[in-house]
Amino acid sequence: MSDTRPAAKLIDGKRISSEVRAEWKVRADRLCALVATPGLTVIMVGENPASGLYVRNKLRACEEMGIRSELRLYPADTPEQTVLESIRALNADPTCHGILVQLPLPPQISVRHALEAISPDKDVDGFHLYNVGGLITGETVFPPCTPYGVMMLLDRTGIPVTGQNVTIVGASNIVGKPMGLMFLQREATVAICHVKTRDLTQYTIAADILVVAAGQPNLVTGPMVRTGAVVIDVGINRLPDGSLIGDVDFDSVSRKASYITPVPGGVGPMTVTMLLCNTVAAAERSYAQLKAA
Ligand code: GUN
Repeated sequence: MSDTRPAAKLIDGKRISSEVRAEWKVRADRLCALVATPGLTVIMVGENPASGLYVRNKLRACEEMGIRSELRLYPADTPEQTVLESIRALNADPTCHGILVQLPLPPQISVRHALEAISPDKDVDGFHLYNVGGLITGETVFPPCTPYGVMMLLDRTGIPVTGQNVTIVGASNIVGKPMGLMFLQREATVAICHVKTRDLTQYTIAADILVVAAGQPNLVTGPMVRTGAVVIDVGINRLPDGSLIGDVDFDSVSRKASYITPVPGGVGPMTVTMLLCNTVAAAERSYAQLKAA
């Protein structure tokens, strides 16, 4: 007998991303008209092909938003000191509002040294310890882009967060851990699972909102999901045939969930969008501080 249960509603990341970009473009245009063009500088060391693709997407998105963007591309054998000096010069440059150091970095450059060299006022990736620490108190200046994008998807879809049981699968510094703190700030009850978690299903089945960011194709399947849950798939995995799939088995989970994000076209477009928002916000803060001085 065929399954007649309705499939979950799709959370359309492309549409929401376009809406958010249109709203923030108004703010970027206002800054351009009143004071100066918001500016983002991306530092990339070496030519990792995946990083190259991400960076090109970010630069193109900046152009569409009216953000002035600059790529500083260094050879893979560049000494750490050269990169740190470049970051410090950008910290002092009033035309640069956001600095992004593309990861990964070659082994001679410490990620910690590079990220901590960025002024927290220009840390539009939200990776500096100051901004990471702000997540604990709810005062971060620039939330990290992917968790910020997930929160935006939920809010714009009208999905309540307060008081909900949230399970996050994956405890990375970039997604899982900051995502957990952002949900906690919104008064959700949070469980963060990771590779050492015993009986993953015990946690996933309890979730009203399930966020999966584990980097493992089809890790979460229908029987692991509560009927009516909201499922957010942060995973982007490329199969040998070139197609993209998430960390969630879409077919079986979409029969149980009330809402689900597709891959591609769910969380992915939001990450770059929130980087643009953080860059415009950094420029707005910079001019507000100048005016107050
Ligand atoms: N490498 C992969 N994802 C990211 C990201 O979001 N920011 C930076 N800086 N590097 C990355």
